[in-house]
Amino acid sequence: MGKQKNKFYIRTYGCQMNKYDSEMIKTLLLEENFEEVPTAEEANYIFFNTCAVRENAEKRILGRLNSLKGLKKEKPDISISVLGCVAKHNKELINHPVVDFIAPPDSYRSLIKAIRTKNGKIVPENYCEQYSDIFTSPSNTSVYLSITRGCNHFCSYCIVPYLRNRLRSRPVEDILREAESLVNEGANEITLLGQNVNDYSYKGVNFPDILKKVSEIKGLKLLSFLTSHPADLPDKLFPVMAETPVVAKYLHLPIQSGSDKILAKMMRRYTNDYYINLIKRARALMPDLTLTTDIIVGFPGETEEDFKQTLKAVKLIRFDQAYMFAYSKREGTLASLFPDQIKDSEKKRRLQLLISTQNEITKEKAEELVEKEISVLTMANGRKGQKIGKSKSGKIIALPGVAKIGFEYIIKIYKINGWIPVGRIKKEADK
Ligand code: SAH
Ligand code: SF4
Ligand code: F3S
Repeated sequence: MGKQKNKFYIRTYGCQMNKYDSEMIKTLLLEENFEEVPTAEEANYIFFNTCAVRENAEKRILGRLNSLKGLKKEKPDISISVLGCVAKHNKELINHPVVDFIAPPDSYRSLIKAIRTKNGKIVPENYCEQYSDIFTSPSNTSVYLSITRGCNHFCSYCIVPYLRNRLRSRPVEDILREAESLVNEGANEITLLGQNVNDYSYKGVNFPDILKKVSEIKGLKLLSFLTSHPADLPDKLFPVMAETPVVAKYLHLPIQSGSDKILAKMMRRYTNDYYINLIKRARALMPDLTLTTDIIVGFPGETEEDFKQTLKAVKLIRFDQAYMFAYSKREGTLASLFPDQIKDSEKKRRLQLLISTQNEITKEKAEELVEKEISVLTMANGRKGQKIGKSKSGKIIALPGVAKIGFEYIIKIYKINGWIPVGRIKKEADK
């Protein structure tokens, strides 16, 4: 009877780091004999792991909580917890009629102890928390592994450092142990995570060193990482990527703006020229590199001319893909105090223009792959009986249903569906 009661449902919003955190919370709950269920209605414990990076992300969770008022009335004993970045940003949520616990990102161990007490509260954080001894299990063949927590950068628009506290680098041996057990339990691809992986530093081991060490794990087929801050990129990183076959030739390098004036106001610590030179170096060493980025439009004080410089940079650099956002004013950040905030309608106009410019490039880049033969690792079941795979440069490729998950194939791309290249199998990669 008692055991049956411990059913939990967890829903994750936000970035890869939040997804990893949810896996870690699951690991903690399973160790305490909780059982995961697929819907909130079946659960006694409901967890929402939330994102506050932009205003609309934060609003989403309010909608979800309001929709649970009926369920909470019907079953007043269920425990509902708001975890993650919104939990840190909006502690007022503890007064919401359905919310029992508020647990910021560095409080999850205490949360697990607290939820059994039923005395709802704001769970205290541990600013040194590393969760280093928690080893997640693979939820599918491609998994995340966090190597740092927190961020020390304080880019002027960004709320993350206020929500996730200061940088902590996880011990090398714990990273290797988790990576090994993930691979032994069936993971083919690992993505190392940090707000800025280039900040990793543990007893003289830096990011290129840990990348190399993880790449040596037997059975690992693809190794990726997210995210790199351009200003901190170690000189050794591109050569290590280029010379290590298992490391995906994939770089997510947020540019944020093409205007030096705006980059300075964003406190990004690099110029447009510096960024372009980095990309030149990377592409010289890795000609098939897939390059993606993040861009913000409508930052306070961004003039039409500044915006045009962003469009120019996008056309010059030709990113394979970009994640593009309208600036969202976040309370507590430096940029929220800047004058010259841009009108919403203008931000929207700039965003649409940027998106249509980049979409054209994304499509052209995908089309360049047609008729090419590439090696692809099958990752998961896709739609309409297809399989989904990843190329050595981190590109998502659609494969025929006969492709076996975890196997590598040489395929020939014969068309583009939306923006996804579709391939025919020529042969298994190592045959
Ligand atoms: N640590 C990572 C991710 C930060 S959040 C990094 O530095 O790249 C992911 C992206 O959200 C950022 O790169 C930025 O483009 C965007 N972002 C962050 N704060 C924002 C804000 N206030 N308004 C709009 N976009 C924002
Ligand atoms: Fe935010 Fe900058 Fe830190 Fe990224 S590096 S999380 S954009 S403050
Ligand atoms: Fe990630 Fe959103 Fe927090 S982007 S770090 S979940 S604010």
